[in-house]
Amino acid sequence: MAQIKIREAAVGDAEAMAIILREIGWSERRNALPLREVWGPIEKLIEHTVVYKENHTALVAVDENDEVIGFTNVHWVPFIMLGSYEGYVSDVFVSPKASGRGAGNLLLESIMKEGKARGCMRLMVTNGKDKSSYKRGFYKKLGWTERPQVANFVFYYREPWS
Ligand SMILES: CC(C)(COP(=O)(O)OP(=O)(O)OC[C@H]1O[C@@H](n2cnc3c(N)ncnc32)[C@H](O)[C@@H]1OP(=O)(O)O)[C@@H](O)C(=O)NCCC(=O)NCCS
Repeated sequence: MAQIKIREAAVGDAEAMAIILREIGWSERRNALPLREVWGPIEKLIEHTVVYKENHTALVAVDENDEVIGFTNVHWVPFIMLGSYEGYVSDVFVSPKASGRGAGNLLLESIMKEGKARGCMRLMVTNGKDKSSYKRGFYKKLGWTERPQVANFVFYYREPWS
């Protein structure tokens, strides 16, 4: 199997991330935009992550040609009730073209290692029950526990992508 490596995300990865989101195609609205309009805001978010490394970790998976094939983003949240930190995983995406080669697992394992090194109490992610990653037990297989007693609420300030 070809070598996949994980490294910290850089501002220059924004366009590749936008292309991956487009390939995954969860949002028709986003896919209809010029690519520049998608990666512009991503670039700013990575810049923030890089400046505030203590609070955020953004990683990319690269293939043997150094092409970005996946990415993840985690936010280390001071959680008073836990008396510790929770790592909130906002993004885990691998290009469908590179799917099934282990990049997703490598990204998640890197996050899990980072959280442990930081003395974090737990990690948290939301995973749509209609998504094939949920149906295939992407998180469960790596030891994550589903919380059926917890409802997930969001409050929108703007319309979501899809
Ligand atoms: C889920 C995802 C990150 C997996 O990345 P990947 O590099 O393809 O995964 P790996 O090759 O490391 O395989 C690990 C596990 O991921 C899941 N997986 C692999 N390919 C997948 C695919 N095409 N679709 C969904 N899940 C997949 C499986 O659970 C797999 O374990 P298995 O091979 O024992 O069934 C990727 O398919 C993806 O980006 N999906 C769309 C976005 C998404 O659902 N993100 C996660 C929730 S927010």
